[in-house]
Amino acid sequence: MKTLIQNGTVVTASDTFAADVLIEDEMIALLGTKIDVKADKTIDARGKFVIPGGIDVHTHLDMPFGGSKSADDFETGTIAAAFGGTTSVVDFAIQYKGQSLHHAWEAWMGKAEGKAAIDYGFHMIITDLTEKAEAEMDALVKEGVTSFKLFMAYPGVFMLDDATIFRALLRTGENGGTICMHAENGGVIDVLVKRALARGETAPKYHALTRPPRAEAEATHRAIALAEMADVPIYIVHLSAAEALEMVTEARDRGLPAYAETCPQYLFLSYDNYEEPGFAGAKYVMSPPLRDKAKQAQLWRGLAGNDLQVISTDHCPFCMKEQKELGKNDFSKIPNGAPGIETRMSLVWDGGVREKRISMNRFVELTATAPAKIFGMWPKRGTIAPGSFADVVVFDANREITLAAKTLHMNVDYNPYEGRKVRGAPDVVLSRGRVVIENGKFVGKVGAGQFIKRAERMK
Ligand code: URP
Ligand code: ZN
Ligand code: ZN
Repeated sequence: MKTLIQNGTVVTASDTFAADVLIEDEMIALLGTKIDVKADKTIDARGKFVIPGGIDVHTHLDMPFGGSKSADDFETGTIAAAFGGTTSVVDFAIQYKGQSLHHAWEAWMGKAEGKAAIDYGFHMIITDLTEKAEAEMDALVKEGVTSFKLFMAYPGVFMLDDATIFRALLRTGENGGTICMHAENGGVIDVLVKRALARGETAPKYHALTRPPRAEAEATHRAIALAEMADVPIYIVHLSAAEALEMVTEARDRGLPAYAETCPQYLFLSYDNYEEPGFAGAKYVMSPPLRDKAKQAQLWRGLAGNDLQVISTDHCPFCMKEQKELGKNDFSKIPNGAPGIETRMSLVWDGGVREKRISMNRFVELTATAPAKIFGMWPKRGTIAPGSFADVVVFDANREITLAAKTLHMNVDYNPYEGRKVRGAPDVVLSRGRVVIENGKFVGKVGAGQFIKRAERMK
């Protein structure tokens, strides 16, 4: 099967050039001017950009949380991702206490197989680092699950102590894995939450007020210090606070391999959203929480200057009805998370490239190339080059869309950006050479997504 994308402008992390893209079966075969072959399908990309499919390295599909389950499963979530121009996700499998890591991996494979419409990999959330689990980390790295999320928050559920975190970090020094850290000081937050509830402060905004930026900055600093002592890289997930970014910047200025991602919600939403009337603030209850609007410029500077390397989504949707509502009388019972898998590329293009905060090439780097490199998927993914998978988006920088729960495809009854107009949206999306989105419709196949066996960290 030959597919030819003609007349477009190819944008990679490093270059922008006019070229046709020839795809043979799953792979990009050739880039060139006026490629003259008889193709089975041609796509006219005149006036459009041809970019690598987005890679979202932080999603929670079909994930149990706080007595509920994230509202998108691997079918609805990956279709929504494709609509938004994302062609690979790396989700999180969870090892519960007493379970083996392989049990957790199999459980999450069972959720994805036969359902995912685009390719998927897994990070492993470790909650019980027994000696056996430590040995399993080595095996998982070889099997393509090469990164491990640890929590410094949620005491009694996910949180690990410093000694356990340090053991996991040391192990990645031997096996080539990468530790991804949820960096918030869970002990401090727990005390603040209890005190707030005792004062009768139950509204959603107290979720943010009991998770101060310094709790994120302290944990970020500690995580990096532990990684420095273990002499390994570290990746901070969903960084929201400028104060935490300062810790990453300081470490990177000293030459340490400290990496961090942020997410669109921390760039486009703010603490003010928690002040929306009634229970509406629950839409934005996520951890870490939304921060002060005035600090967002610092995150953009971090993205432009490479102190932040990745924009992921932390897509973890819960409906207002029956899910967020669980915390109607107690903010600490509101399931943490918000939808974002479908809106990342358009939001970042609109607010980043169009607003001249980042270049087109940096946009590609943040949304595809850097995540592919950091998490062992490059150069098969994250770029447009002969020999790479044909995960390709024909992107129309001029198309305006209005973000709304009704017209988006995520399985959730609200959208945090409801009514926001953004310019820049995918026209055609190909996943390993198959067209999955065209003319505003999903034309892919449920279950066609494959497990991404990722490589260990580049040394
Ligand atoms: O609120 C969030 N971020 N929910 C998902 C779980 C996590 O910590 O990433
Ligand atoms: Zn987290
Ligand atoms: Zn998350």
